[in-house]
Amino acid sequence: MLLGAPGAGKGTQAELISEKYRITHISTGDILREAVRQGTELGRRAESYMSKGELVPDEVVIGIVAERIQQPDCANGFLLDGFPRTVAQAEALDKALTERGLGLDAVVNLEVDEAEVVRRLSGRRVCGQCAAIYSSADVGQSPQTCESCGGALITRSDDQPEAVQRRLQVYRQQTEPLVEYYSRAGILERIPAAGTVDEVFATVSESLDRVKARSIG
Ligand code: AP5
Repeated sequence: MLLGAPGAGKGTQAELISEKYRITHISTGDILREAVRQGTELGRRAESYMSKGELVPDEVVIGIVAERIQQPDCANGFLLDGFPRTVAQAEALDKALTERGLGLDAVVNLEVDEAEVVRRLSGRRVCGQCAAIYSSADVGQSPQTCESCGGALITRSDDQPEAVQRRLQVYRQQTEPLVEYYSRAGILERIPAAGTVDEVFATVSESLDRVKARSIG
């Protein structure tokens, strides 16, 4: 599972981890944004919270994840990105995993200061079709279309400065307590995440390789 403030780099690292370790990436943010894009009932309900930087109610996201982790592509493991985000969600996840005889191997906490996450979010563009993530540096070097699918690059509505400030506040109040929650569970991996994407991924990989070796040995 990946933990960290908005803009810490969870989605970016999740793609790299999912590719290297061949596990399914589950991003509650991506699932909710896709529902908004398709105009489903879930999407309409979620949008009112997301655009303001508020959390979608626990029972909604818990239901989404409980269903998602039962899909066949999760049989060999999965990587949760953006879930859990509250203690109630963490407790519901523990229960859902225990019922299935599963457990979390590691919680990777990406640690970056707030000034850096604000800087990263102010430059972020995402593909409106496939959700690929771009930084201001990437966008400066190429046209405003996605390299993988050709979709248009857009700014997320919750990357507006007001919503970013609210997301950071919500993170401090509701999500940061999970650092202590998973530290007490003995599965927290603290990753300094202020470096480049490759530098952070090298540290994440070292940490996950250590966890893997421990679980095999
Ligand atoms: P979600 O999509 O999960 O947003 P978030 O947690 O706020 O995280 P972000 O996606 O903004 O950032 P990230 O850490 O993934 O960073 P990224 O890799 O993109 O959730 C959105 C909303 O959905 C929530 O606010 C809520 O409303 C709802 N929601 C979702 N899950 C929920 C839940 N469980 N419960 C309730 N509500 C929920 O990187 C950011 C930028 O930095 C990019 O431009 C990237 O290119 C760049 N970058 C990344 N790494 C580096 C680096 N090392 N150096 C320089 N630039 C970098």
